[in-house]
Amino acid sequence: MKNKLIDILSENITDLSREDIEAAIEIPKKSDMGDYAFPCFRLAKVFRKAPNLIAEDLAKTINEKEYDIFSKVENVGGYINFFFAKEQFARQIIDVIGKENYEASDEGQGKTVCIDYSSPNVAKNFHVGHLRTTIIGNSLYKIYSKLGYHVERINHLGDWGTQFGKLIVAYKKWGSKVEVEKNGISELMKIYVKFHEEAEKDDSLNDQAREWFVKMEQGDEEALSIWQWFKDISLVEYKRIYNLLGMDFDHFTGESFYRDKTQDVIDKLNKKNLLVESDGAKIVPLDEYDMAPCLIMKKDGSSIYATRDLAALFYRKNTYHFDKCLYVTGLEQKLHFAQVFKVIELMGYDWYDQMVHIPYGLVSMEGGKLSTRSGNVIYAEEILHESINKIREIIEEKNPDLPDKDTVSRQVGIGAILFNDLYNQRIKDVVFNWDKILNFDGETGPYVQYTYARCASVFRKVGEVNIPEDIDYSVLTDETTMNLLKDMQRFPGIVKDAAARFEPFMIARFAVSVAQHFNKFYHDCQINVPEENVKYARLKVVQITMRVIKDALDLLGIECPEQM
Ligand code: ARG
Repeated sequence: MKNKLIDILSENITDLSREDIEAAIEIPKKSDMGDYAFPCFRLAKVFRKAPNLIAEDLAKTINEKEYDIFSKVENVGGYINFFFAKEQFARQIIDVIGKENYEASDEGQGKTVCIDYSSPNVAKNFHVGHLRTTIIGNSLYKIYSKLGYHVERINHLGDWGTQFGKLIVAYKKWGSKVEVEKNGISELMKIYVKFHEEAEKDDSLNDQAREWFVKMEQGDEEALSIWQWFKDISLVEYKRIYNLLGMDFDHFTGESFYRDKTQDVIDKLNKKNLLVESDGAKIVPLDEYDMAPCLIMKKDGSSIYATRDLAALFYRKNTYHFDKCLYVTGLEQKLHFAQVFKVIELMGYDWYDQMVHIPYGLVSMEGGKLSTRSGNVIYAEEILHESINKIREIIEEKNPDLPDKDTVSRQVGIGAILFNDLYNQRIKDVVFNWDKILNFDGETGPYVQYTYARCASVFRKVGEVNIPEDIDYSVLTDETTMNLLKDMQRFPGIVKDAAARFEPFMIARFAVSVAQHFNKFYHDCQINVPEENVKYARLKVVQITMRVIKDALDLLGIECPEQM
């Protein structure tokens, strides 16, 4: 509707550009001042006339042309107030939001975004922090895809580094094949802890660990086969979690993938004279930019995290030709990414500004019991199962006859966790409070899913219907219905903003808002009535709402059961 108004205003005010007109249009604070208002103060200079006279003249001209989209156009002081003909307004909105996928766009046509997320560390548990990067990264993937970008989902597994030397030593000394096969990662963590305890008493263990890692880097068969086995064992657990979440990746190219590509990074840095020797190690000094130096090569010649990230960047640029490369990790890696991006800039690549670090806050239990920094105690998988089980209990109590309770419990239990994670700005800490997360009436995943199921139940109740193309729009002009329609009209703008700011919470808030508006509509406007014109018009609204909620939740990675 705003576009229509801009069309009409540009037609009648040739001295202002479309952009200027668009920027000037206001939404009045009170609805008795119209749906939109146009201030004429800036025109005073152009026309050499008082703003109120300009408003009066313009209102008169527009009224004379009898546009059917307005019910009233009037000037008040220096303003022109526009009241839309409600029926027309409803028709126009339904025209827009009635189209499937109206929230999509082609802004990303021909562009590629790499998203580096999840990336757990092999032989370590998948903790709640990794759950956050997985959930946020997956949502960004969906949002960018919706805007037409081609997305490469990259899992940069932490599967290389000196810790694997330690693990091999520990396994050879205290490990048992049977126990590792049986208990997986938790067994590997156990022997890793033991290594550290023993190494405090016997430093030679550290030397042995270094030797084993050097062997790995040199391609030693035994070292690599043990390492590969640890990795396979870990991946089984990670993939179980991804399955539960209903998420996947295009590439599981972890740090080890770049082990034969780090020498090239060092050569490039040498060529550009950026490497400096420091205590036997090689660094890129960054003090000029108020940063600690970026360590590239250790004393013993081995590469480190940053070297592998640089190698990964060159690989991704050359392979995927990205327009943007996003990294979703905890805030504590801020400096690391700032250093890596700075090194790319110093190397003189003009794409140095295409990388973005996307940080997020910590996870804590209400009462402050756990934080991701204070220990690795909380396994993501346990949290997910706990949520599913709790939802299962609620369903057994409220709706024991529900078909396929297992699937619904999973969809709602997982949805609750995802929604809670994505409901606030990323940087805010996520607080776990089961009563809040699982509340069917709060601003929660289950609440929005329940609203979707309510829409579905409307259709179950009315049975087979064919909503006609031409519905009676005059049925939809009441305030409650108009508010719901106007709310849904915001979807394309929300998706665009969420992408530009890397903030899925905007979608989550939108979903709750639509659900709330719908529930008011459901309460105020009876749907299954004998008058067919009323019934069809309202069913159309339910149909659109259902699709909007489903699409919005899908952008968060959440599924919608038809019944719950
Ligand atoms: N494995 C790292 C961690 O668990 C995250 C890796 C992030 N991605 C990257 N390219 N550095 O903290």
